[in-house]
Formats: sequence, C-alpha cells, structure tokens
Amino acid sequence: MPYTTFEIPEKYTYQTGFLANVETEAILGALPIGQNSPQKCPYGLYAEKISGTAFTAPRWENQQTWVYRIIPSASHATFAPVSTDQSLETRFNYIPDQLRWDPFDVNADVDWIRGLNMVAGAGDPALKNGVAYYIYGATRSMADKTAFYDADGDMLIVPQQGALDIQTEMGRLLVRPNEICVLPRGIRYRVDLVDEQPIRGYALEIYNGHFQLPELGPIGSNCLANARDFQIPVAAYSHDTKSDWLVYNKFRGQLFRASQTHTPFDVVAWEGRYYPYKYDLGRFNTIGTISYDHPDPSLNTVLTATSNAHPGTAIADFVIFPPRWLVAEDTFRPPSYHRNCMSEFMGLIHGSYIAKEGGKGGFQAAGASLHNCMSSHGPDRAAFDKASNEELVPVKVGIGSMAFMFESCYMVGITDWGLTKCAKRQPDYSEESWGGLQDQFCPPPEHR
Ligand SMILES: [Fe+2]
Repeated sequence: MPYTTFEIPEKYTYQTGFLANVETEAILGALPIGQNSPQKCPYGLYAEKISGTAFTAPRWENQQTWVYRIIPSASHATFAPVSTDQSLETRFNYIPDQLRWDPFDVNADVDWIRGLNMVAGAGDPALKNGVAYYIYGATRSMADKTAFYDADGDMLIVPQQGALDIQTEMGRLLVRPNEICVLPRGIRYRVDLVDEQPIRGYALEIYNGHFQLPELGPIGSNCLANARDFQIPVAAYSHDTKSDWLVYNKFRGQLFRASQTHTPFDVVAWEGRYYPYKYDLGRFNTIGTISYDHPDPSLNTVLTATSNAHPGTAIADFVIFPPRWLVAEDTFRPPSYHRNCMSEFMGLIHGSYIAKEGGKGGFQAAGASLHNCMSSHGPDRAAFDKASNEELVPVKVGIGSMAFMFESCYMVGITDWGLTKCAKRQPDYSEESWGGLQDQFCPPPEHR
C-alpha cells in the first residue's frame, strides 16, 4: 500500500501541501479578509507576524506567517539560563574514522527537552551556518504548562519508537515511527507521549535556510515525495490567560526559560507559508534502475536543504531506503565501496539495511553510523559475499524496514557525548566490517 498502516490511529485533521500558502481559522471570521493588520482584528485578537526568512528573500523561498492570537508572544518575563548536562552545544571532535553506534538509550525520567542530545554536527548557529544531529529519548510528557522553541534552526524529527503528540502554535500533529515532522525555527511547541509510551528517535537541525523538495529533473513532475502528502496542522487554540506558563528556548545551544501568564497556544487563526508539517515515509514513491547498476542514493531524497553557494550541493539531505524492488541485471546490487566528499550519517527506524545486515553489534534499529567526508566505506564482508554470489532475480528488499541518511556537505564533528559519554560507540566497527576483505585478484596468466 502506498501509505503506512499505523498501530496508533490518527487523531487530528490536517491541511495538505508543501510550501503552499495556507490559511486556517478555528473560529469562522477570525482571519482578517484581504489584509494582515487591520486597525482592529476580529474578535479582539492580536496580529503577530512570524518571519522564517528575511523580509526580502526571493519570493520562491520567502516564508512568513501571520497569526491572530489572544495575547502576543512578546508578553513574557526575562529569559534566564537553565543549567543542563545535556549535549546541546556545537563543540566537536573531528576524526576521520568510520563510526557506528549501538542502539541509543531511552533516557529515564526525562521529557522531550531534557532527552535531546547532540551526537554530531558542524558549524555555528550564531552564524546560521551548519547542521546538528540529535538523538532523543524520553519517558515522560513535558510538564503541564511548559512549551519549547528552538531559535537555532529548523528541526526534522525522525521517530524510531513511540509517538509524539505535538501541540504547536499552528495546531496539533501526531507523529509516529515511519512519519517525520519538521518544526521550523522559533515555533512554540510542546511534546506529549501517547499513553505514556517512551519515545526515542533522531533529529536533524539545520542552521541555515529551510527544507525544500528536491528537483525532479528528468523524473518529471511526480514521484519521490509528492507535495500533496505533506500534512499541515489546522488552527486549534486554548483560552488561558490566568495560568503560569514556562517557555523554554534553545538559543545557540544554551537552554533558557521565561515565565508568562498565558498559554503560547492561543492562535485562533493563521495564514502563510511558515509552519510545522509532517510526512508519512510510506507514501514515498521510490525510483530505481530497471536495467543495470546502482544509482546514487540521491534518488531517495525526501527533503533537501540546499546550499545557496553551490546548486546541487546540500547542507543536508534527508534520504530514505524504503521497501523496494531490486531488478538490476548483471549488477552488484548493494551500494559499492566509495568515498564521498559529503558526510553520511545513517540511522535505522526498523528492520535491517541492505549493505549492513545487522545482528548484534551491527547496524541496528535505534543505532547509527557516520561515514565522514572522504572516509572509505561500503558493504561489509558478509554483504559483499552475498551480493556477489546471489542469483539476480527480481527481489523485494527492505520489507518491514526503513533506514535513512542525513547527508551533508559539511565535515561533521562528533560531540563528547557521541564519542564517549553515550557509551554506545562500537570500538571495532571498521575492523569488523572491512578488515577481513580478501585479495581475490586473479589476473590473466601473462600477468601472474
Ligand atoms: Fe555511503
């Protein structure tokens, strides 16, 4: 089926589209007609503009949203720093070795905010240049009357275990394993667990720009991720101007907190192009060869954050490896051995991955690997032997599986948490994978 059948049923309704200018109102008539900032907004609401790009960004990439809310978000006390021993800052160790991690822990007794740890990244959010890769794990919902926003960038969340019930200023999203969501820079949200089931997963944060759909080139006007399958919340508000709320904020990798006497989730209507959204990876229309050879994995790009400096070079691509048919003839079907100027961080939501079958100590669900800029990698010995000798009949691979990759043009550094503190790094990954490759060179007799 071209969509995922989820164990946890959907409970919200959505609008659809990608980067569409949408409008939604929880009360009929709450959205001003034909203007953004009337002298008096309908029903005594306040107009507030949220700019996701510079005012003067080109029209195709310009993302702004007008919200009509009960109290402006500016009404809050002073932000105070919050101490934490989490890995949130961009302090990196740069090493060229191939790295792999065992499944990460679900942190006990923490919520979404405290369960976030940066494993690797590049750049600096203050310069709005770079990426960060996080592992999250939490066993409880955020406390009542708390909210969070990330001033550092857009966050693409990849759940691996447990569903996230996300309340945002723009409305609600339910995000389950095999779905992803994007929470843009600055948007207030909170995360509740569903039936108090623990959550674990990955997140990709981009410090510059926003995610786009990749160009399709000769593929044409459909396929890969189709715009119609992205789901956008509808306006849903609370009316609470009596309670004490805490708004947490990640600002250049530091946590801050401010109190306010009203809910941040009081947007009655909104319109624009800057909003959270989610996408079911089961809807991805996968393209591949129907003749021979192994195409580049860029064919599986769901979303891309482009580098303005170099067209076709992404600061981050989000790439998936869904169930698909392999039919290539006279072909080594898994990825070949390669070195890449781009850095490849991989994770596994469920199942196993064709070039690394997994098992104990292998590439497992909830684990990860990093093949940094120009670090050699490819199929391990077992995968090479299998793919070199298997009968090349049409075969469906990846059934019940979903691997993904964050691919970046940056050289990626590892945080202390990723290197040692998480205690999940596999020390013998490289030797185990490629140490036993045999000399199978068999030249013609005249060259022996
Ligand atoms: Fe690779």
